Amino acid sequence: PRKIIIDTDPGQDDAVAILLALASPEIEVLGITAVAGNVPLALTQKNARIVCELAGRTDIPVFSGCDRPLSRALVTAEHVHGKTGLDGPALPDPEMPLQDAHAVAFIVETLRRAEAGTVTLCPLGPLTNIATALQQAPEIAPKIAEIVLMGGAYFEVGNITPAAEFNIHVDPEAAAVVFGAGVPLTVMPLDVTHKALVTPERNAAFRALGNRAGIAVAEMTDFFERFDKAKYGSLGAPLHDPCVTAYLLAPELFTGRHVNVEIETEGRFTAGMTVADWWGVSGRAPNASFMGDVDADGFFTLLTGRLARLP
Ligand code: BDR
Ligand code: CA
Repeated sequence: PRKIIIDTDPGQDDAVAILLALASPEIEVLGITAVAGNVPLALTQKNARIVCELAGRTDIPVFSGCDRPLSRALVTAEHVHGKTGLDGPALPDPEMPLQDAHAVAFIVETLRRAEAGTVTLCPLGPLTNIATALQQAPEIAPKIAEIVLMGGAYFEVGNITPAAEFNIHVDPEAAAVVFGAGVPLTVMPLDVTHKALVTPERNAAFRALGNRAGIAVAEMTDFFERFDKAKYGSLGAPLHDPCVTAYLLAPELFTGRHVNVEIETEGRFTAGMTVADWWGVSGRAPNASFMGDVDADGFFTLLTGRLARLP
């Protein structure tokens, strides 16, 4: 199986991404590292453990990481995800412990010990933990097989400011470190994730699974869609973060371009913008596979089929 570390700020869509990974034998989750993002760190680390317990996977080590961006105040998204970050289903408080080690230490140690090219990083939130690891231990960069992350936007521009997507906007300095690290990078921007919409039929299919995970996912996406429906007239909740896990399982569902992507860290109106050179006009070297489209039906067939395997 492909070894991954999930770095996350759950978040209903993060939760679904984690469940998809835990339901898939092709993936071995070495650990889950929590970061501040959708809600503060105390909640994201707790939510990560709630999700592991929902999947019946109390064996997954969960680590707590950075509680704020590298050099800015934290921006959160309770207006999207609710007060807990995981509003919707009534899930019990976790009993499994949080690991003692800091998330960044876990990332660094795991990569130091790993053979080069054997561990993939899957960031689903602001990139603070990953950037801190790369800054503290630059020698880990060549060890990383690939980074597959959710963040950014091109034609879809922004969801937290007119120009920027949430994960990148929260910590643009961290994103600049990651995009500049010379590590193979695959990016799931809003252009893709706004096509992975939980329509009423897809929601009903989750619920009809009848298992604990399927029902919880239906309830999470019910809650999570309220924001996008009201704001953008979306057909349903956009499953941003699960696109990362789905890409690991079925990359053929996605298409995109290998382009240069720079992170705006200074713009007065554009901080956190992902400046993707889609048309190759800059002459700058490509540094990321920036996805543009997804086979949404294929994505939901995969997701629903995998969720069926969970308790
Ligand atoms: C991203 O921001 C968060 O609200 C979601 O969990 C996702 O990672 C989408 O912009
Ligand atoms: Ca997220």
